[in-house]
Amino acid sequence: MAVVGPAGLVGPMNFGDNAGMKEDSNPQQPGLDERRLSVAPMMDWTDRHCRYFHRLLAPSAWLYTEMVTTGALLHGDQARHLDFDAAEHPVALQLGGSDPAELAECARLGERWGYDEINLNVGCPSARVQRGAFGACLMKESGLVRDCLAAMRQAVDIPVSIKTRTGVDTCDSWEFLHDFIGEVSRAGIQIVILHARKAWLSGLSPKQNREVPALEYDKAQKLKQAFPELSLIVNGGIADVADVGRHLSYADGVMLGRAAYQTPWQLAKAQQIVLPGSEMVDRLTVLQKMVSYCEQQQAQGVAPRHIGRHLLGLMHGQPGARLWRQWMNDCLQRNRPAEQWLEPFKSGRTLAA
Ligand SMILES: Cc1cc2nc3c(=O)[nH]c(=O)nc-3n(C[C@H](O)[C@H](O)[C@H](O)COP(=O)(O)O)c2cc1C
Repeated sequence: MAVVGPAGLVGPMNFGDNAGMKEDSNPQQPGLDERRLSVAPMMDWTDRHCRYFHRLLAPSAWLYTEMVTTGALLHGDQARHLDFDAAEHPVALQLGGSDPAELAECARLGERWGYDEINLNVGCPSARVQRGAFGACLMKESGLVRDCLAAMRQAVDIPVSIKTRTGVDTCDSWEFLHDFIGEVSRAGIQIVILHARKAWLSGLSPKQNREVPALEYDKAQKLKQAFPELSLIVNGGIADVADVGRHLSYADGVMLGRAAYQTPWQLAKAQQIVLPGSEMVDRLTVLQKMVSYCEQQQAQGVAPRHIGRHLLGLMHGQPGARLWRQWMNDCLQRNRPAEQWLEPFKSGRTLAA
């Protein structure tokens, strides 16, 4: 597979169910159907190998990178942060930062690298991110967020979006959220991803901030009513296809985070909901394709464990899943060749997928 680089090596996307996707005459106004399903940006999880895997499960889902800070991009190893496989389209680059000029420069870089969307993180509550004065704490500075988004929009032709929360600390009223979205949307963005719970900046870890504050789907619903022109993607606690269907009754799209990673088959099922009739893959075929991908990546120096670690939930809920997972863990620890991931299926000792 070709590695995507800044020289625009990526051709127009053409894959599976999205082969018929509209040419974007107005890139700031994507067709809503295209975003009915997405996979959340997740640090240490949604790296390029994970996204390749998720793409096999959900051909039409929008995939997001882990958050990359402007500092890391401007002063670090750009190729390491930005390279991806052409099969990952449509794929969005999530940026963390609060300096409009730097964000604009990074957005430009992302567009040149071939990304389909640039997203600004206004939801991360970690202490490190707070020290850098970006992420969720930016919710208290709506004017600055507007300026950041406006600068990013100015810099690129691809869509610019925001991922944010329902509130932060004691700024958690409906009016606060309404005013925040009203202000930032003046930058001309048209896609808002709402993690439907507020962030507590002191006292709660990032993990607790994904569990402790209550989910507020009612605010997501009200937000869509208040700003019907915005494409609203709802995120947070969406675990299965029943949830997907429920949220698609009012939102333009759903974004799955932990469920997509820990129980990846839910992603394949969600794909069926957003694009009924799309070809259903089977787990063993997906695994075989990941073995081939791993072999290609290994030829470029990537150790199998960096890829295999994302697959551990693939058989979740299947008979013998626990044994296969143990086998996989063993393979990864011992750095066995990827073809061994299939061994339990060949011998018929564990499960039939
Ligand atoms: C391991 C992990 C890392 C995360 N990293 C990011 C990140 O880099 N950027 C971001 O906007 N959100 C990040 N999140 C939050 C998710 O994008 C998502 O908003 C959150 O998990 C709620 O969705 P869920 O309930 O479907 O998991 C992360 C979540 C997890 C579990």
